[in-house]
Amino acid sequence: MNIKDFKSLKEIHQYFAVHNTCKLKNTATQPVYETTPPTSGIVFIGEAPGLSEDKLGKPFVGAAGKLLDELLQIIGFTREDVYVTNVVKYRPPNNRDPLDREKDACRVWVNAELLLIKPKVIVPLGRHSLQRFLPELNISTAHGEVHIHSSGTPILPMYHPAAALYNPNLKNTLQEDMVKLKEFLNRKPKKGTSKKKQSIINDILQL
Ligand code: URA
Repeated sequence: MNIKDFKSLKEIHQYFAVHNTCKLKNTATQPVYETTPPTSGIVFIGEAPGLSEDKLGKPFVGAAGKLLDELLQIIGFTREDVYVTNVVKYRPPNNRDPLDREKDACRVWVNAELLLIKPKVIVPLGRHSLQRFLPELNISTAHGEVHIHSSGTPILPMYHPAAALYNPNLKNTLQEDMVKLKEFLNRKPKKGTSKKKQSIINDILQL
């Protein structure tokens, strides 16, 4: 199956839920994903599902998800307007950090989602997700700024909402970064962002 051939997110998830080598599927209840593309073009990418997500099969439905909903409200969006996914599709036991081999095993699954959605902007939430797109950057200095990925896709990293549950100062930072995301979306597209460029984006995001 060529990852460019999928026609819907549902098709992608059905395919990769069977064709993936992530060992976490042996301990997790189910894969965690959404099936509706975002109306805003924003894709948030977290780390890995936790207990609530594992139970329900949906991303960011626990405490961190509630904070994400609150933050979205600040910029006038709801969860229906955005797409939320994770670098790893299965819950790691006891919510430990995902291992590199688990991230690698889910990499093509995430690429297929991005190829289908063609995001206007990708928002990595936290260091694991940032590392997947821009490994040379650090979340503490890269958050809130737009970085252009080698594929041409804008990347606006933010702290993981779970971090703000433990460190309330980060909630203000997250709020400010959400406003920056809104400002970015409101900017007029620069001339030269043509269809041709989009096809290059498609090709490179597959890697
Ligand atoms: N944290 C994540 O990174 N992803 C989820 O889906 C939930 C919590």
